[in-house]
Parts: sequence; C-alpha cells; structure tokens
Amino acid sequence: MNIKQLRQQARERMNGVCRVCPVCDGRACAGELPGMGGIRSGASFMANVEALSQVKLKMRVLHGAASPGTACDLLGFSLAMPVLVAPMAGAQFNMGGFFTEERFAEIAVAGARDAGIAACTGDGTDEAFQCGLAAVARAGGWGIPVVKPWSGDFFFARMDQAAEAGCRAVGMDIDTAAFTALGKSRRPVSPKTPEELRAIVDGAHSRGLKFLLKGVMSPEDARIAEDAGCDALVVSNHGGRVWEALPGTACVLPEVARSVSRLPVLADGGVRSGADVLKMLALGASAVLIGRPCAIASVGGEEEGLVLWLKRLRRQLVESLILAGLADVSDAGPHVIASAPWL
Ligand SMILES: Cc1cc2nc3c(=O)[nH]c(=O)nc-3n(C[C@H](O)[C@H](O)[C@H](O)COP(=O)(O)O)c2cc1C
Repeated sequence: MNIKQLRQQARERMNGVCRVCPVCDGRACAGELPGMGGIRSGASFMANVEALSQVKLKMRVLHGAASPGTACDLLGFSLAMPVLVAPMAGAQFNMGGFFTEERFAEIAVAGARDAGIAACTGDGTDEAFQCGLAAVARAGGWGIPVVKPWSGDFFFARMDQAAEAGCRAVGMDIDTAAFTALGKSRRPVSPKTPEELRAIVDGAHSRGLKFLLKGVMSPEDARIAEDAGCDALVVSNHGGRVWEALPGTACVLPEVARSVSRLPVLADGGVRSGADVLKMLALGASAVLIGRPCAIASVGGEEEGLVLWLKRLRRQLVESLILAGLADVSDAGPHVIASAPWL
C-alpha cells in the first residue's frame, strides 16, 4: 500500500462524509457535524489551517546537523517523535461507518504504538469511551483516554475505569463544556471551577494517573490549569468543532506557552505535515496532536495505513529539522520562525 492507494480507499470507505481533499482545511466539509467538519460556518477549523500556513520558517543549511533526533518523553511515554494521535470518537456517525467504534479505536491505538508514538482515545457515548479504553488496555496502557467534562461524580467513575485498565494518564477535553451534540447521551457536561479542576487533578494523581487538560485557548485558563497541578495542557479548539468564533490555535499558542512556567504545552488543529509539527514546536509547543489526517489514514489503510502515514510524517519532520538547522527536535524555538504576522 502507498499513500495514494490509502487515500483512495479512505475516500470510498468514508462514504462521502470526508472527501479526502488535497488540503484538509475544512472548506468542503464546513458545518458537517456529525461528520468530519468544523461547526456551523467551519471558520474555526479553517482558521487552524490558515494560521499555520501563515507561519514561515527560517532556512539554515550551513551546519553539520545531518541526522537530527526526533525522540521525546511525554507524560510517561517515550515517543519516536513529539506527536500523539488525537482522540476521535464516533467512527460510526463521523467517519462513514465503515469501521465500528471498537475497530477504529483498535486501529488508532495499535497503529500509533507500532509507529513509535501513542494515541489518545475519545468519549461522548459510553460505547466510544469503553471501546477506546479497551484498546488502550489491550496495548498495556499505551494510550490516553480523554474524558468529556461530565458533571458531578461521573468523571471520577471514568477515571476509576482508566486506572483499572492500566492507563498511566488520562485527559479531559474541557472545550466541550457546552457541547450540545452530547445531548443524545442525556448526561450533562459543564465548565469546571478552578476548585473543581483541582479536585479532578488530585483524583487523577491519587489513582496513579497523570492528567492532561485538552482545549485551552487563553493564558488565563492556562495559568489556572498550571495552578491546579495539571501535568500538561493542549492548546486546542477541538479541530473547530465546538465554536465557530475561535482563532487558529497557532495564533494563541505563543501567548499560552509564555503564560505558564513548568507546564508542558501541547497543541493541535490543522497539523498536516512535518513542517507543521516544527511550526507548532517553534511557537512554543512540546508536542502536537493530529486528528483528521490520522482518521483518514486509519480508515483508508487500518493499522498499516496509519503506520505508513506516521512514518512519512516523521521523515518530513527530519527533513524540516535539517532545513531549519536543528540537531534535535528539542532545539526548536522562536529562532526558527522567519515570520508569523501576529508575533
Ligand atoms: C471525527 C472527530 C471526532 C473527535 N472526537 C473527539 C473526542 O472524542 N474527544 C476529543 O477530545 N476530541 C475529539 N476530536 C477533536 C480532536 O481530538 C482534535 O482536537 C482535532 O481533530 C485536531 O484538529 P485536526 O483534525 O485539524 O488535526 C474529534 C475530532 C474529529 C474530527
């Protein structure tokens, strides 16, 4: 299988839900939710891709860094590159239904592990959460279940299950605090006060789990997350799926990263290539999450397809590091940026 075949097969299997466009930028699928699109106008999804395309890197090719390192440690995982597969629930209703929830979670978790990285798994329905958790358990805890910000004690029940399943980390996608699409589950979600967040983080730690807060878009929330004891946060607007009024994540990442002192800051939204990974790292991220391209690779080519796509991404990252003059991925920083209009 090659990338072209993988994409062709994904186009067929996605059943029209995802067109597998040459550039995955949210235009063709605007407003398609359920589906793969961004909410309403799709503007926040498009803003993610547009913001990254406006970042230009500085080329440095007179140096000796011919084989740069890409490995990194994150939340107790040793990764071949600073990339995680983003949590994506709803294979049945978001991705054309070719794969069951169970099979999609299995592909994402096992494919990510086989490519030397790790996958997050999603939530929203009980089936989605349980299938993701089971896949992580089968992989010996190699993966991060990301739980919706359920109201009351239900979040703690999910953390109990994650701990029992052998997970080492758990996340919460706080950007879905007003997610109406969850109405079907008939279980309420809610924003969290700083005190509630601290209780959740303490609850994770007392169960032996590290805690990842996903969906931070402001320095104010980032500081609260740091004070609450989170182990990492993700600058994310949920791939533009929760609010059409948000800026591209790359635009807010530098300010968020500067606002915390010890907390690792991750980012997602619109990352499509090795150069995009380096752009996010240069803007202040320690690692990135990638959503839709991993869904396309998983649906199009199962574990083999995801591994193929991720290995190509790593080759592109190595190429970008060489062209930026970096001997190691940890050397990325603002000095490799040639221009970003908002900086
Ligand atoms: C079909 C689909 C389902 C998703 N489900 C979840 C989920 O269950 N939990 C979550 O935290 N994020 C979910 N996300 C958001 C992704 O984790 C991620 O933030 C986003 O896709 C990143 O943007 P990108 O797709 O442009 O890479 C979902 C995204 C898509 C496209």
